[in-house]
This record gives sequence, structure tokens and C-alpha cells, in this order.
Amino acid sequence: MKLPFYRSIQKELERVNVALHQVFEEEKELKIKEVLTYLLDTPGKRLRPALCILSYKGCFENESPVPDAVIKIATSLELLHMASLVHDDAIDHADIRHNAPSIYKKWGNEVAIAMGVYLYSRSLSLIASVGNIDVLDRISVTVTQLCQGELTQVMNRGEVNLSIAAYLDILEKKTGILFATACECGVLLGGGTSGYRADLKDYGTTLGVIFQIIDDYMDIMGNEKELKKEPGQDFELGEITLPLLYLLETCAPDERAGLIQLIEKQNPESLNTLKVKVKDSESDHKTKLLALDYIKKSQDSVNAT
Ligand code: FPP
Ligand code: MG
Repeated sequence: MKLPFYRSIQKELERVNVALHQVFEEEKELKIKEVLTYLLDTPGKRLRPALCILSYKGCFENESPVPDAVIKIATSLELLHMASLVHDDAIDHADIRHNAPSIYKKWGNEVAIAMGVYLYSRSLSLIASVGNIDVLDRISVTVTQLCQGELTQVMNRGEVNLSIAAYLDILEKKTGILFATACECGVLLGGGTSGYRADLKDYGTTLGVIFQIIDDYMDIMGNEKELKKEPGQDFELGEITLPLLYLLETCAPDERAGLIQLIEKQNPESLNTLKVKVKDSESDHKTKLLALDYIKKSQDSVNAT
């Protein structure tokens, strides 16, 4: 774990890891176990558990031990996140996840669908074992919003008239809300004030949007070496992300039809042409400015705590 804020919670993140292993060890069916072991061997950044634990710790003036309930909720959020990515890779036909073949690629669509629901159900059991109705309520609403974000995105593929506000709403729901909920659950379990909870909710939401704007920008402007996967995967699915939305918004009226034709081709050649157009237009700068604006907002929220 390279991010500096992980250092203060290394012990707690190790407990999350142990809890994940325990959840998966309960599975006795060897073929299912094989997939679960693979998921543990190709981990993500554990960002959602980290946000939950740090938000909990922030409720106390002095260093105090982190109870099992917090570790369980942090673990349940990771399981929920894993479930959403296993489904997302099937929806996006994505071959790579965490620098390794995705569950969809390795085991196919059917396994990915069932495994996503399996992970979600294991997450629910952990939440139930904590018995905090406010946390359950928060996470339930979050799952609805996650699905709304994913569904709205998929159902707007190829929609060149998508507004920037609608695009940002998708990012909030798809990524921001789960970050926000991770923070809020930490505060709920730590008995923090409603003001602290509101500031961390804003922090989590903006952090998630920043994360996703960068991910979308890199899909168009990044290269294989930086990304460790081929760029253009969202583009080839027909997803019209921020750099393209700004390009369409700022282009001369007689350029728009040509740009739409390029976008609709959804192939690596049209992506390369669009990449140059983004670089040479206001779009590149505007995308970076909006990301910086969100970074400022997230810093303001965290400084307010
Ligand atoms: C990644 O987006 C996807 C998400 C952050 C959310 C996916 C949500 C669902 C599939 C619905 C919820 C499902 C369950 C089982 C709770 P991306 O495709 O832009 O990012 P990527 O480049 O990491 O794939
Ligand atoms: Mg995806």
C-alpha cells in the first residue's frame, strides 16, 4: 500500500484482509473457492475500507482501538465493491482488472453474474452481523444508487446529447456515493457529529468523482504503458465521457456532425483522431480544470472537519 494515509491504518487494513480470508474460507465448494482465492490474489487498493476506518478514527481526539464492528463494515464495503466490479467487467466485456484477467474473462459471463451476487450476499451477512440499522439503511440506499449510476451510464451509451450535469450525476452515483458511504459508516459507528458526517460525505463524493474523471480522461488520453491495459475501452463501448462532451460543447457548429461521426465509429483509429482534437482544443484544459475544481472542493470538505 503506497498511499501515505494508509500508513496510520496498516494494522486495521490487515484485519480487513484477515476478515476477507475468513469470509471466503467458509466456502467449502472447491470451484467457488478457486474464484474467491483468485480475487484475494488480485486485490485493489482497499480504498473504501480505508475511508471507513479513517473516518471512524477521526471521531476521537485520542488514539483508540478500532472495534470489530468497524472492521466488519469496512470488509463488507470491500465485498460490495468487489461485487460491483465483477458485474461491471461482465457489463463492459472487460478483459483486465487489477492488472490480471477479469473474472468475466477467466470464467465467463455466467460465473461473473452469479459471483457478483454471491459477493454481494456475503457483504450483506457481515452487515447483518453488526446489527446497526443506520449503517444497513445507508448501505442499502447506496446499492440502489450504484445500480442507478451504472444503469444510466449503460443506457446512455452513444448519447452525444448527454449533458455534463447528467454525466457528473452518473459519476457521483457510480463511484462517489460508495466513497461517501464508507466515510459515513465510519462516523455512524464512531458516534461522530452530524456536521463531521456531512463534511466527510462531501469529501467522499468529490473524491469518487475526481477518481472517475481521471479514469475517463485516461481512457481517451492515456497510453497502454500508463494504464497497464489498452486505452479506449469505454470509448469503444460508446461511452461519451467528459473530454468528448467538452469537445462537442466547445466545437464550431459546422464541426459537430464530423465529431459525432468519429465518436460513432467507436474504433481505435477514430479514437486517435479524437485524441488529437481533444489535445488541440479547449476540451483538454476544461477537463483538467473541472478535476482541479473537485480536488479543491474535496480539500475544503476535509479541512472543514
Ligand atoms: C466501474 O466503472 C463501475 C462501478 C464503479 C460501479 C458498477 C456498479 C454496478 C455494476 C451495479 C452494482 C452491482 C452490485 C453487485 C452491487 P467503469 O467501468 O467506468 O470503471 P473501470 O474502468 O474500473 O471498469
Ligand atoms: Mg468498467
